Amino acid sequence: MATVVLIGAQWGDEGKGKVTDYLARNADLVVRYQGGNNAGHTVVADGREYKLHLIPSGILYSDKQCLIGNGVVLDPQVFLREINGLIEQGISVEKLKISPRTHVIMPYHLKMDAIDEERRGTNKIGTTGRGIGPAYTDKASRVGIRIAELVDPESLAEVLENVLAEKNQLFTEYHDSTAFDYKEMLETYIEYGQKLAPFVADVSILVNDAIKEGRNILFEGAQGTLLDLDHGTYPYVTSSHPVAAAACLGTGVGPSKIDKVIGIAKAYITRVGEGPFPTELNDENGEYLRREGFEFGTTTGRPRRCGWFDAVISRYAARINGLDYLAVTKLDVLSGLEKILICNEYQLDGKVITEFPTTIKELSRCKPVYQEMPGWKEDITKIRKLEDLPANARKYLEKISELSGVPVAIIGVGPGRDQTLMLKNLY
Ligand code: IMP
Repeated sequence: MATVVLIGAQWGDEGKGKVTDYLARNADLVVRYQGGNNAGHTVVADGREYKLHLIPSGILYSDKQCLIGNGVVLDPQVFLREINGLIEQGISVEKLKISPRTHVIMPYHLKMDAIDEERRGTNKIGTTGRGIGPAYTDKASRVGIRIAELVDPESLAEVLENVLAEKNQLFTEYHDSTAFDYKEMLETYIEYGQKLAPFVADVSILVNDAIKEGRNILFEGAQGTLLDLDHGTYPYVTSSHPVAAAACLGTGVGPSKIDKVIGIAKAYITRVGEGPFPTELNDENGEYLRREGFEFGTTTGRPRRCGWFDAVISRYAARINGLDYLAVTKLDVLSGLEKILICNEYQLDGKVITEFPTTIKELSRCKPVYQEMPGWKEDITKIRKLEDLPANARKYLEKISELSGVPVAIIGVGPGRDQTLMLKNLY
């Protein structure tokens, strides 16, 4: 048995959905522990494409228990739409459970997200506009509404009355905006609560019991290390903790119970939203990666910014998350490039630095120092064994592993479930 945490080692969109889906076949439980429907996973299973935002990717297997932990923020409307979509596609959602401690994204959070972004003007974060930041803000300010209150009409009426009065005052008096109608919102959310009630269960108990029973557990992170509220490129970050430590906090499990941490890294790097990005390519190579990798956001459809692999970032991710292994995804996207660059250090104000800087001011002045690797021409999407990869592709992976200081356990060579090379047994 093993408990495995999967995290994004870059700025999100590393292909966690596909790796989770792949590893989920050997897991009994798949648990999400942070973020909300700002995430977007595309999973291709049996030739069909599924886009998931909130529900753990393990849902595509009928025998897996999928859990949403207390660290997640959940928009009931999105949740219900997503489960209805899955049911229509013949996927069972019977084993899906949500923690009663999970916080709810309310309509005023979406409105506040939009207002905040507009107010920031040219300094906007480029959020997904899903109300994530304001929902976590309310959680920390202790005015949030949790699933426990949502499913109890009396509690909901009480909490919502107080919160909405304050929000409406803010909207009308400070933001030149309109107020929400309390009765209307209460009715709608009571109805959501009743629909969600069958899904509510104590996730901490379920996970800890499963650990005691020696079952395999997969903690599925959303976003990536550099979007972490504490360890990311603040303030161009999300409002939750995509790092591995959050798997414990976001589900109610002690750190001693985690066996392995896997960092997912694309064979290059992408980023959506604003903020400095040292290896960003604004040339034909960047275009090539965007086109070949189909780098457009699953949630917002925005074109992703693309750049060369950055080992300063992967070493940082290895340290912050305690990575045991790397999963390198989308290696096939690099096929056809004459040469491939890897950044191993930065030039900052005339000095060479090898550690990721703390401030975005410093990061925006960092110039990548590259090592050049020869590319390969062959199509690798049908390869299933490491030794069958072109020699230059193997050398590239070895270099990534050496510079990151982490062994590679999984390689992705295409979007399909089977387009995965498994080098280590993780369970
Ligand atoms: P928020 O999470 O919507 O508040 O957005 C904050 C920042 O995180 C923005 O730069 C978003 O583009 C980024 N972000 C949020 N979720 C994801 C994701 O799943 N993948 C990549 N970037 C994300």
